[in-house]
Amino acid sequence: MFDGTTDEISKLIEPGRVHRRVYTDSDIFELEMERIFGRAWMFAGHTSQIPNPGDYVTSDIGRQPIIFIRHKDGKPQVLLNRCAHRGPKVCNEPCGNVKALTCLYHGWTYDTDGTLLDVSMPEGSASHFKKSEFGLAKASRIGEYRGFIFVSLADKGISFDEFLGPMKANIDDLVDRAPDGQITLDAGKHRYFFRGNWKLQVENVLDSYHVPYSHASTVNKKGEQFSRREGDKEGAQVIEENKGKEKPSNKLRGRRSYVVGIGHGWTSKHELNESKRTSDTFDIYKSRLIERVGTVKAEEILTPKYNNSLLYPNCSIMGHNIHIRIIRPVAVDLTEVTVYPVKLKGAPEEMNTANIRLLNVTHSGSSFIQTDDLECFKLTQQGLQSLQSDWIDLSRGMDEEKMDPRLNMLSQAAVHELAVRSQYGAWLQYMKE
Ligand code: FES
Ligand code: FE2
Repeated sequence: MFDGTTDEISKLIEPGRVHRRVYTDSDIFELEMERIFGRAWMFAGHTSQIPNPGDYVTSDIGRQPIIFIRHKDGKPQVLLNRCAHRGPKVCNEPCGNVKALTCLYHGWTYDTDGTLLDVSMPEGSASHFKKSEFGLAKASRIGEYRGFIFVSLADKGISFDEFLGPMKANIDDLVDRAPDGQITLDAGKHRYFFRGNWKLQVENVLDSYHVPYSHASTVNKKGEQFSRREGDKEGAQVIEENKGKEKPSNKLRGRRSYVVGIGHGWTSKHELNESKRTSDTFDIYKSRLIERVGTVKAEEILTPKYNNSLLYPNCSIMGHNIHIRIIRPVAVDLTEVTVYPVKLKGAPEEMNTANIRLLNVTHSGSSFIQTDDLECFKLTQQGLQSLQSDWIDLSRGMDEEKMDPRLNMLSQAAVHELAVRSQYGAWLQYMKE
C-alpha cells in the first residue's frame, strides 16, 4: 500500500528515470488528483466561449465538474458544478445560455455567480438554515491572460503570474497572429479518450524524438509532411536521405526544446520557408495584419518561434496547425483529450475554416497524426503491466543540457528528453505532502 509520504514519492523519481508505478498505480493516481489537479493552475476556458451574460460551458478540472459562466455583471465565473443541497451536478449540458441555474432534484435556483436565489418550499427550511451559506462553490482563485482563464482549486500556492511566467510569450505568439489581436475558441471541439495514463499525452506534447517513427506514414516520398498552414506549399521535412539511407532530417534534429520551471516548456519552430508563404487568402490575411501592426512587426509575427508549448500539467498550445489541447485524467489508465480549434479574429473566413478542416485530418479521434500517438499511449500502458523492470528510461541528452544565455532557459535538442525530465521535477514538487 502506498502511503503518500514525501519520502516514498521521492523514491519514484531518479535522475534520468521514473518508476513504472507513476503510470500504473491507482493510489498514486488518487494522490495526483489531490496534489496536482487540486493545487495547480488549470485551464477553465476562454472568454470567447461565453461572449454574453448567462453563456456557459461545462467541463472538469481533473475529476471535479465545473461551470464556466459569464455572470450578469459581465465577469467570467468558474463555479463548482455541485448542488449545495444534496450534490447533483446542476448544469448538465455541454454549453448554453441561462438566466439562472436550477437543480433538477428539488428545484433550488442559483444566480449566474452561484448565489442561491430560491429554495423550493422555503417554509420547510430548518430554523438555523441560512440561504446565504448555500451558494454554488467557486474555484478558489481565478486568473486571466488574453482571454485564457485559469483557476486553482487551492487557496494557497504560487500566484497566477508566477504560474504563467515567461509562457505569456507563447500565448502572445498565438494571439498576435490574429489581425484583430484576439483569438476565439468558438468553433466546437474534438474530444476523445485513450486507454492510458494522462502523463503519456503530456510528455508527448514536447517529444520530437517520436515523430519520424510513429508518424512515418504521414510523410511523402521526399520525407515531407503535408502543408499545415495557409500559404505554405509544403510541410515540414521530417526524413531525408543521407548516404543512401533514410534518416530523421537535420531540420527536425535542429529543433530545440526549452524548459521554464514548474514543468512548462516549448519546442522551437521547425524551420519552414516563411518568406515564400503565399496564396490569395494568405495575402489578404497578411495585409490585414500589416494594417494593424505594421510591416516589421507582421514579419516577426509571421515567423513564429514556437512549435508546441506546454503549460504543465495539462494545457498545450499547438502553434503549428493551431489548436489548444486539454488533457484530463479520468482514471489511472483512462484519459480524455479535448482539442479546441483556434480562430484568428479578423483573418479571412476561408483561412479559419481551412484550419478547422485540417484539424479533422490531423488531430481528431480518426485522423492521420493523433491516432499514431494514441496507439503508442495505449501500447505503453499495456507494456507497463510487464514486471520485467521497474524503470522507464528518460536519460536522452542528460549530458547536453545547456543554459540558453539569451533566454535564460535550460535548452537542448528536442529529440532528447529534457522536457520530460523537467515535467517530473514539477510532478515531484506538486506531489510532496
Ligand atoms: Fe439540488 Fe436538492 S439536490 S435541490
Ligand atoms: Fe505525435
